[in-house]
Amino acid sequence: MINYVDPSAVSGLTTRTLSSGERGGRRAHAAYPAVTGAPRLTDRLRDTVEDELRRFTWREAPGDTTTAPEFNVDWLLAAASEEVLGVRLRIGRSMDAGWRESRTTLWYDRTDRRVLGSAGLIRDDAAMSTLVGLVENEMTRRGTPVRLDPLRLDPRMFDSLVFNPRGDLVVEFDDGQVASRSTGRVAVAVPSAVSGPLLSPTGLRARRAVASAPRPSGTSQRDMLAASTDKPPARSSRAGGVDCARARCVALTYNDGPGPDTGRLLDVLGRHGARATFFSLGSGASARPDLLRRMRDEGHLVANHTWSHRDLTTLTTLMVTSQLNRAQHAIAQAIGQAPTLMRPPYDGLDGRVAGAAAGLGMAVVRWNVDADDRGEPDPRVIADRVVTRTGPGSIVLMHDVHGATVDAAPEIVRRLAEAGYTFVTVPELYGPRAMRPGWIYDSGAGAESPERLPASYPGAMRP
Ligand code: NI
Repeated sequence: MINYVDPSAVSGLTTRTLSSGERGGRRAHAAYPAVTGAPRLTDRLRDTVEDELRRFTWREAPGDTTTAPEFNVDWLLAAASEEVLGVRLRIGRSMDAGWRESRTTLWYDRTDRRVLGSAGLIRDDAAMSTLVGLVENEMTRRGTPVRLDPLRLDPRMFDSLVFNPRGDLVVEFDDGQVASRSTGRVAVAVPSAVSGPLLSPTGLRARRAVASAPRPSGTSQRDMLAASTDKPPARSSRAGGVDCARARCVALTYNDGPGPDTGRLLDVLGRHGARATFFSLGSGASARPDLLRRMRDEGHLVANHTWSHRDLTTLTTLMVTSQLNRAQHAIAQAIGQAPTLMRPPYDGLDGRVAGAAAGLGMAVVRWNVDADDRGEPDPRVIADRVVTRTGPGSIVLMHDVHGATVDAAPEIVRRLAEAGYTFVTVPELYGPRAMRPGWIYDSGAGAESPERLPASYPGAMRP
């Protein structure tokens, strides 16, 4: 087992999103941390993720919309101290009708501002050979069916080295690397006393950073659920002042943040007195809880867009619940309130997803105006689309991780206000007709009962 560092404790850390959304019949979402003061680390993380995405795009033929190939990158901090930072990327892709994950941990040594792959934690080639032998022995001792030969051939397979809190060196393998793919993650812990002499100076700093980190309490799914359900439901602090049955209301909604431009967007909305609904990712929320608190304090509404942006319709029911629950917990920790709305990534919605949302007390929110902003570099085009497509009661889909969308915000707000619109959060569109958990809402017009959902909801296929 490995412990992870709370990313909000690292000053100057924000989440960057490399690619988001569905393009050319493929689905891709990749997030990685950017740390002020460690630009080389940020560059290397971006290059790593870009390479993987390119490889995925070459290999995977575009799918139809029900079986689109999917790529997803999630990250965790393996260590953070004055001396080192360790970032572990979990890179997943759908392959041969299955899901495969690889893990890569990059290390940044703050003492000489160098980025190292995991092999950089090991002193030299001789130490690496010793480590390979130790790992092979452990695999043999376990008696698990593993292919050992590749280890001898290529020590570069050791691209995810981390430490557990006892100081043991943990060697992680990719799915299918040393065992059958269905085994999933395989990891070997080499005891501290044995692995210590094999470490480089950076390796010793990394081990020290993990040993001195505060131990996070292991939070189970049940603890997470309890921690978020005992919070009051999230609500805009300025809700209730507008009657959308009489006023021309519009709900601006932003997905996938918080990101580097979210603070700037909050400034713009605040200047114009406009409010919005933010469908936040749990992983981003855990890195920047301060931005979620700003949303809460400035009258916006925070909602749930899952932990790491997977297509929920491809996951087991347990994993769907976990994606929602982890995000719910991260958001509740940040703002002291539990979201009552969720939006499934890629509009991937079926009866199980709606059922899981209902179980966590959340209504499902779609949209009826798409800004089509993801691939659009021109803010004026984005603003034009939103303004011309919006009608009374519209729910507008945008992305606050997209810089051009944030650039478009002043014009959107100005022109819609001139046309007589009031900017409200999603539940205000429905007023006294309270939104119900598990029901599906795509505009102020009304709701769809989840009972009417076919087993496989057409989702994005719907006109
Ligand atoms: Ni999204």
